[in-house]
Amino acid sequence: MKDLPKLQKQALEEIKNSKDLETLESLRRKYLAKKSGLLTQIIKELPNLEPEERKKTGQIINQVKLEIEQALEKKFGEQSTINNQQFLDVTAPGVPVPEGHLHLITQAIREISVIFERLGFVRRRYPEIETDWYAFEGLNMPLDHPARDEWETFFITDKIVLTPHTSSGQLREMEKGELPIRMINISRCARRQSDISHVPTFYQFEGLLIDKNISIANLKGVLTYFAHEFFGPDREIRLRPYDFRFTEPSFEIDVTCGLCLGKARLPDGQGCRYCRSGWAELGGAGMVHPKVLENGGIDPKEYSGFAFGWGVERTYLMRSGVNIPDIRLIYKNDIRFLRQF
Ligand code: FA5
Repeated sequence: MKDLPKLQKQALEEIKNSKDLETLESLRRKYLAKKSGLLTQIIKELPNLEPEERKKTGQIINQVKLEIEQALEKKFGEQSTINNQQFLDVTAPGVPVPEGHLHLITQAIREISVIFERLGFVRRRYPEIETDWYAFEGLNMPLDHPARDEWETFFITDKIVLTPHTSSGQLREMEKGELPIRMINISRCARRQSDISHVPTFYQFEGLLIDKNISIANLKGVLTYFAHEFFGPDREIRLRPYDFRFTEPSFEIDVTCGLCLGKARLPDGQGCRYCRSGWAELGGAGMVHPKVLENGGIDPKEYSGFAFGWGVERTYLMRSGVNIPDIRLIYKNDIRFLRQF
């Protein structure tokens, strides 16, 4: 018991010198813990004392315990205030909140819509699951026609497919009976394809313009406007003869390569490793076939029109400065990749 004053002095000294809440908590345990605290050890010896002595020592122990508790309480209060003050330091720099952005293909879709809206085209979205009629038969591809093979389609039943191209929206738009038509249908398509230039699901944007006296010159004008707006004024397009069953004549549309700008050579004299020819393929186009107009309830003697259908992903990849070696990276959802756009 003679150690009590020494213990008290030591405890109050340590509490006074403690610098943080963690140390204070360990001091509280050191002296007052229910089983192992130093003061508790002394209290446990009380029953061995004479009654008179026990009473006197008990009072002293209570006093010491009270003083240690009060010292702890005071110091806890001081330390908490210091901590709070640090927390409330309004001059400290804030913690930046991670910020995301729209997926690059969503950005591209919005940009494409706006460019065509300026020319009076109206954005449409047609079904991702389609009947055979809208996807093929109504577009001049009867059931046994070999041209269908090119679309590498997912069939749900004999007559229901996952939409393989946005051209299926052409008849749906015509059926509304509102002429003239200026539609830009941007929807999801699906094909049984996956390699560095194909993804199983992708977006196409389909332009359809139907009015009186529409010619290939109008088609070329619209596509040139789009190419200049989306790729830049230094890029040009060309029409190459092609064959689609739902357009006549039909074309493939190429754009000058974003790396060599159509020269097929790089400034160092080497051949362009990206395109080799100076041109990169964008997608298909053509004048709407009279049979398709009829299927959509439009008189081909009175009206004519053009259509084009390109992949959003491929079109985005052909932008100058975009260097994505594998189209599938776009949908891998690797945050390190997506952050760059
Ligand atoms: C068509 O789909 C026609 N419907 C285009 C068309 C519309 C022609 C209107 C005439 C009039 P094609 O199968 O070539 O055509 O596809 C057009 C574009 O879609 C391709 O150039 C490419 O950009 C994109 N595309 C096609 N398949 C895939 C795929 N698996 N992954 C990514 N893009 C694709």
